[in-house]
Amino acid sequence: MAGLCEGRVAIVTGGARGVGREHCLMLAEHGAKVVVNDLGGDRAGAGQDISAAQQVVNEIKAKGGEAVANGDDVSDWNGAKRMIDQAISAFGKLDAVVLNAGILRDRMLVNMSEQEWDAVIKVHLKGTFAPARHAAAYWRDQAKAKGGPVDARIITTTSVSGIYGNIGQTNYGAAKAGIASFTVIAARELARYGVTVNSISPSAFTRMTEDLREYTEEDKETRSPKWIAPVATWLVSEESREITGRVFQAGNGQFAVAEGWHKGPEAKPILDPRQAGKILTELAKKARKNAGMNGLDLD
Ligand SMILES: NC(=O)c1ccc[n+]([C@@H]2O[C@H](COP(=O)([O-])OP(=O)(O)OC[C@H]3O[C@@H](n4cnc5c(N)ncnc54)[C@H](O)[C@@H]3O)[C@@H](O)[C@H]2O)c1
Repeated sequence: MAGLCEGRVAIVTGGARGVGREHCLMLAEHGAKVVVNDLGGDRAGAGQDISAAQQVVNEIKAKGGEAVANGDDVSDWNGAKRMIDQAISAFGKLDAVVLNAGILRDRMLVNMSEQEWDAVIKVHLKGTFAPARHAAAYWRDQAKAKGGPVDARIITTTSVSGIYGNIGQTNYGAAKAGIASFTVIAARELARYGVTVNSISPSAFTRMTEDLREYTEEDKETRSPKWIAPVATWLVSEESREITGRVFQAGNGQFAVAEGWHKGPEAKPILDPRQAGKILTELAKKARKNAGMNGLDLD
C-alpha cells in the first residue's frame, strides 16, 4: 500500500531523539523525504553534535528511505533559513515543517535565573517562529507563482504545561502557551495560501521526562513516543487539508483535542473599584475552573 506521505518533503526539528525521532521514522516509512534537524545538545540545550541527526538519517536510509541531516539551531534566524533552503536544494521543494525541538530548564519562579528564562523562551518560541516564518514566505511565493494555494503544513509542538499549567515551569509553560496561540493565529493568517497550522501536545517517555517520576514498563509502553508519530504523519499528509488551528493531545493512552480559551460569564462594566470587585468575584465564582494537568476542571 502507498504511504500516506508519498512525495511529501518535511523538515522535523529536534528529530534526533524522543518524539522527533519517531516523527522522522514514521514520515519516511510513509514515503516522505525528511530533513532531520537536530542541534544535538543535552536536555538543557548545552553542546552541539550533528551525529545525532545523522544517526536517524542512517536509520531511514537503511530502510530505503530518503533523508538528510541538518545541525542548525532552530532559534537562529539564519540557521532556520538554511534549514528551509537545504530541504529545497536536497529535495526540490518543501511541504511541511514539524517544529518539535525543545529544551527544559525547570525552576520555581522565585529562583529562576534570567538565563534559564531566556534559553527556554528562545529555543521554543523563536525556534517555532523562525523556521515557520521562512517556510511561510517560501509558500506565499509559491502560491503567488502558481496563482493558487499550495498544500503545505506547519505543525508546532506545545505541552499540557503550557495549555493547562504546570508548577516549576513558568518559562517552559509560557513558551508552550505562546506556541499554542501562535498556532491559532498563524492558521488564520496562512489559510489564504493553502497552509494549515496545527499543534501537537505530546505525552511521552523521553530523556525530557524520564526522571520526572518512576515509570513501570507498562507506563513506558503507553508513553512511548511512537504514539505521537501517527498524528504528525497524518498532519503532514495531504489528507489533513481541512483541519487547521487545532491543538491535538497525543500519548499516554489517548488522542484528544484541547479546546482553547473561551469567554465565560460577563457583566456590565462599572467605574467604582469596590463595586467592580463584587462583580468580578461573582464572575470568577460562576466561571468554569481552569483545567488541571489532565485537561479537566480543577476541583
Ligand atoms: N516528552 C514529553 O512528554 C513532552 C511533553 C510535552 C511537550 N513535549 C515537547 O515535545 C518536543 C520533543 O521533546 P522530547 O520529549 O522528544 O525531548 P528530547 O530531549 O528527547 O528531544 C528534543 C530534541 O530537540 C533537540 N533540540 C533542542 N534544542 C534545539 C535547537 N535549538 N535546535 C535544534 N534542535 C534542538 C534536542 O537536541 C533533542 O534531540 C519538545 O518540544 C518538548 O517540549 C514533550
